[in-house]
Amino acid sequence: MEALMETLSEAVPATANDDIGQYLHTQQHKGLLRFITCGSVDDGKSTLIGRLLYESKMLFEDQLAQLEADSKKMGTQGENLDFALLVDGLAAEREQGITIDVAYRFFATDKRKFIVADTPGHEQYTRNMVTGASTADLAILLVDARRGVQTQTRRHSYLMSTLGIRRVVVAINKLDMVDYSREVYDRIEAEYRDFARQIGLNDIVCIPMSALHGDNITQPSPNTPWYHGPTLMAHLESVPVDRAPAQDESFRLPVQWVNRPNLDFRGFAGTISAGDIRCGDRVRALPSGRESRVASIVGADGECGHAMRGQAVTLTLADEIDVSRGDVLACAEDPAEVADQFEATLVWMSEDAMLPGRPYLLKLGTRTVSVTVAQPKYKVNVNTLEHLAARTLELNEIGVCNLHVDQPVAFAPYARNRDLGGFIMIDRLTNNTVGAGMLHFALRRAQNVHWQAIDVDRRAHAALKHQAPRIVWFTGLSGAGKSTIANLVEKRLHALGHHTYLLDGDNVRHGLNKDLGFSEADRVENIRRVSEVARLMLDAGLVVLVSFISPFRSEREMARALAGDGEFAEVFIDTPLDVAEQRDPKGLYRKARRGELKNFTGIDSPYEPPERPEIRIDTTADTAEQAAERIVAWLRETGLQESGAPSTNGR
Ligand code: ADX
Repeated sequence: MEALMETLSEAVPATANDDIGQYLHTQQHKGLLRFITCGSVDDGKSTLIGRLLYESKMLFEDQLAQLEADSKKMGTQGENLDFALLVDGLAAEREQGITIDVAYRFFATDKRKFIVADTPGHEQYTRNMVTGASTADLAILLVDARRGVQTQTRRHSYLMSTLGIRRVVVAINKLDMVDYSREVYDRIEAEYRDFARQIGLNDIVCIPMSALHGDNITQPSPNTPWYHGPTLMAHLESVPVDRAPAQDESFRLPVQWVNRPNLDFRGFAGTISAGDIRCGDRVRALPSGRESRVASIVGADGECGHAMRGQAVTLTLADEIDVSRGDVLACAEDPAEVADQFEATLVWMSEDAMLPGRPYLLKLGTRTVSVTVAQPKYKVNVNTLEHLAARTLELNEIGVCNLHVDQPVAFAPYARNRDLGGFIMIDRLTNNTVGAGMLHFALRRAQNVHWQAIDVDRRAHAALKHQAPRIVWFTGLSGAGKSTIANLVEKRLHALGHHTYLLDGDNVRHGLNKDLGFSEADRVENIRRVSEVARLMLDAGLVVLVSFISPFRSEREMARALAGDGEFAEVFIDTPLDVAEQRDPKGLYRKARRGELKNFTGIDSPYEPPERPEIRIDTTADTAEQAAERIVAWLRETGLQESGAPSTNGR
């Protein structure tokens, strides 16, 4: 709600500061319709939003003057203002300094208030949809009359249907470009309705319009005498707003932050996503499962005895139980489920394909955890609605996949609770949103596979070997010298009485990983498996030397995360590409240059050098022997001979 108020005031002109209070006051008692707009880039989305703001008199003198000046500059003729310029201009202003996935624009007429979710600039429209849609009552789908129903139109419709948006306005736009042809309009309407029926979208209103010229936006257009339906604005003002109640009726509060101004007060703040709560009610903190009673509830207007869905509150509890940001407080008698494996619909939004096995971040409710995605069960052809086999998901593709998060989280199926079932996925290195989706259900196997406690633990294994186990991870180009140096290191450690094992890419690819090739997805899986093997060997008390190209930072970070603090050392065998290519011990660079070997690292497949390796070896300066010497010395200096092993296993 706070965020909402911020964006509301953002939409109010800065010059009218004194009037804001009055303004918001008069708006307060009208009904509210939330909607999203979607369409391809040139369908006229910005023009339409600009037009709605203009027609609802949400433009103020200074903005209007600017718009007229800009439109003139851009050579727009006559009374036709370029509304797209306006919307893009507002977006540019707002974008300074911060990046946000979705912006909410506010406007109002005499009958209603509206909030429209919009994406700034030229971001992916799909992202706008998925993140903006979870609270939308309606979607306006723009179709360019000249182009008709496109794949993108079907994809957006399919998403709306999966996201639970039932009401759709199909804005058949740019009708002026086809001479306001009734025939064109009828054909598009029929084609769209036919598709919509198949995906369960039934509440559809089609409107012929030209956002640019204002046809059928607020005034029935004389250019479409054959159309007898409502104008866009009339429809938006009168469509019933019967927001689907969350089916989850029991209390759920995803904790946004823990408010601890002094030692005597600990409040848990957030927005109630389902149900209601009274002082004295028993609540359970999830995922921990600890219970307590609500001692007090503080809402926007101070202390209250009762609060319900949609309200932002701070709760205090009768007992000191451990609750952190990202936890969920739930009704104790009917708590939310907790799990770490799920089936989900996933929409991929990144230019880089989804890589099964790669760790991404998953943001669910207020919690962010690490997640890996398994190979999709299928992806959906949005034109035919067929289910297709898939190894990955490319930009804009929609599929059903199993997800595995690294710690149990409280959740609800999306169909029951959008806050606890809708998620986004974020790239760990770039922080970009790369996917979004909806949880279906927890996988049973998550509940049935437990960690088996083992009496002879890693500490016992390590103690017997009188060494502190380690993973020493060699990374670098093919031909950099990884295996040669790792081999020398192992020989020396062995001579010093250490228990070691060398996992070498070429060798492991003959056995455990012989089903894998050199695509990005296969390399990710290659490293995932060898990381898990290295971890088991670490548990067995060994000094594990891993020598793989391991070209991606993400997977090397994943390997590091599996080990405890101080147990992982990244050794970057830094050999420039031209040197490795000159050495070419296996003749593979020559083959790659001749085009006989595809996806060769450094040639047509990327290598991401480590940013902060524990050890960097420059093979143009050091010989292999010198390098091995340095690595062994470093390992000894950092406590290789300690008999006690760290107790954490990184999980
Ligand atoms: S990784 O990228 O998945 O970590 P890995 O270390 O297992 O690679 O295997 C690399 C070895 O496979 C190279 O040393 C080379 O001998 C061989 N190889 C065959 N094809 C390729 C290729 N396209 N790219 C890199 N190495 C290849």
